[in-house]
Amino acid sequence: MSYRQACYDEPLIFDLESEQFCGDEVLKDSPLPETLRRKCLNLPDLPERDVMKHFVRLSQMNFSIDTGFYPLGSCTMKYNPKINEHIARLPGASLIHPNQDESTVQGALQIMHELENMLCEIGGIDAVTLQPAAGAQGEFTGLQIMRAYHEDRGEERKEVIVPDTAHGTNPASAAMVGFDVVELPSKNGMVDCDALKSVAGRNTAGMMLTNPNTLGIFEKDVLEIADIIHDCGALLYYDGANFNAILGKTNPGKMNFDIVHFNLHKTFSTPHGGGGPGAGPVGVKKPLDQYLPVPRIVKNGTYYSLDYNYPKSIGKVRAYLGNFAVLLRAYAYIRSLGPEGLNEVSSRAVANSNYLKTQLEKMIDLPFGGGRMHEFVLSGEKLKSKGVRTLDLAKRLLDYGVHAPTIYFPLIIDEAIMIEPTETESIQTLDRFAEIVHEILQEDSETVRSAPHNTSVKRIDEVKAARELILSYRSLKEHERKFKSHSS
Ligand SMILES: Cc1ncc(COP(=O)(O)O)c(C=O)c1O
Repeated sequence: MSYRQACYDEPLIFDLESEQFCGDEVLKDSPLPETLRRKCLNLPDLPERDVMKHFVRLSQMNFSIDTGFYPLGSCTMKYNPKINEHIARLPGASLIHPNQDESTVQGALQIMHELENMLCEIGGIDAVTLQPAAGAQGEFTGLQIMRAYHEDRGEERKEVIVPDTAHGTNPASAAMVGFDVVELPSKNGMVDCDALKSVAGRNTAGMMLTNPNTLGIFEKDVLEIADIIHDCGALLYYDGANFNAILGKTNPGKMNFDIVHFNLHKTFSTPHGGGGPGAGPVGVKKPLDQYLPVPRIVKNGTYYSLDYNYPKSIGKVRAYLGNFAVLLRAYAYIRSLGPEGLNEVSSRAVANSNYLKTQLEKMIDLPFGGGRMHEFVLSGEKLKSKGVRTLDLAKRLLDYGVHAPTIYFPLIIDEAIMIEPTETESIQTLDRFAEIVHEILQEDSETVRSAPHNTSVKRIDEVKAARELILSYRSLKEHERKFKSHSS
């Protein structure tokens, strides 16, 4: 099947032909006091028909999980069953307001309370907060709990150990909470227990670990790691972003972790990407539950209420109780699959990953060899001698209607190509992907280096895009103004 992405010369909505809409009528009727009102709304005045065409055209120039394979390592871009979308949009769920009195949202509170209990069982932990809105915010919350625990014991511990395979959010979160980050070099892609012993000590507050790690390798020494960390009085933090690899087989509780975050938007269904939406609930073992954010949802008989009476709580980390629509999707996903279905998720995630790895490692190097869990990382280092870099291969894949894998991460692999096929893809899709990679590797290097050719947007200047963060119409106009005044 050949691929040509839709391509329109689509202007920004502000540049579409329209009467500029000042909005003075709307502003006049505003209940806000005069001093708080803007003078003009500056919106384009377009009929609904044109707005609809504009956004549908943009969507056709986009890539989506519903149109193609999305093997973006570490991101778990799997197909999300539409029933979960339907449930999240039911009026009883989507039209309630978080400021409503708790007596009028008993159903929502029940769903959240039951979801907390389900996550406790899945994670092997004792209590959960649903507040954090992303994995990274879960890390921030979990590390605040770690800090509160040590402070409560009168101990000033400043260091958090993070392996060099970790996701970038791990050291960033630790630094945001005020810890010093100690980077732990790995050995054969795993934690080196001797190196860990040499850095763990009285100054260690904790260690962050994801298992399987970002190379897709299961940290087989995890119990020894937990002992080393606990023996020095520190806590072990589980980054649960890779949970789809272990669902129903084991859990962080059994691996002796103390604090856990879940990436609901990855493991338990929610179309994410491009910055959201997400949910990163945090679970803990006792006695750390006393530090969880407030309010906690409590059940008295059949009545659910919000309890703020936890004096040692770290406080609130997000407005209201969490990203309810994402929580609801996760609830529906877990309830519809049940324990056996969840167990099958991890079996399939690991089988798909190993099936594809076995085909691709014949063409591109797999550092450290061996089997993998839900994802694997190849090294495009040798392709460089043919004049093709990992970036070029990733761009050329777009021409075949496949989303690029994650590239250049984790940093310990040269020219890294990180592939996570996910549990929802068929064997035909995996075979086709391997065929595409094979075809690309036979192509002349110039075709690959100048890719993509079939997409709506050709190769972009990624450095410029990262340095000049122009993400809104207003900042674009600002940028153009500055550019004009510099050149005149
Ligand atoms: C291993 C790992 N940890 C943490 C995160 C951060 O999660 P989020 O993007 O929801 O903040 C990610 C995201 O890709 C991840 O892959």
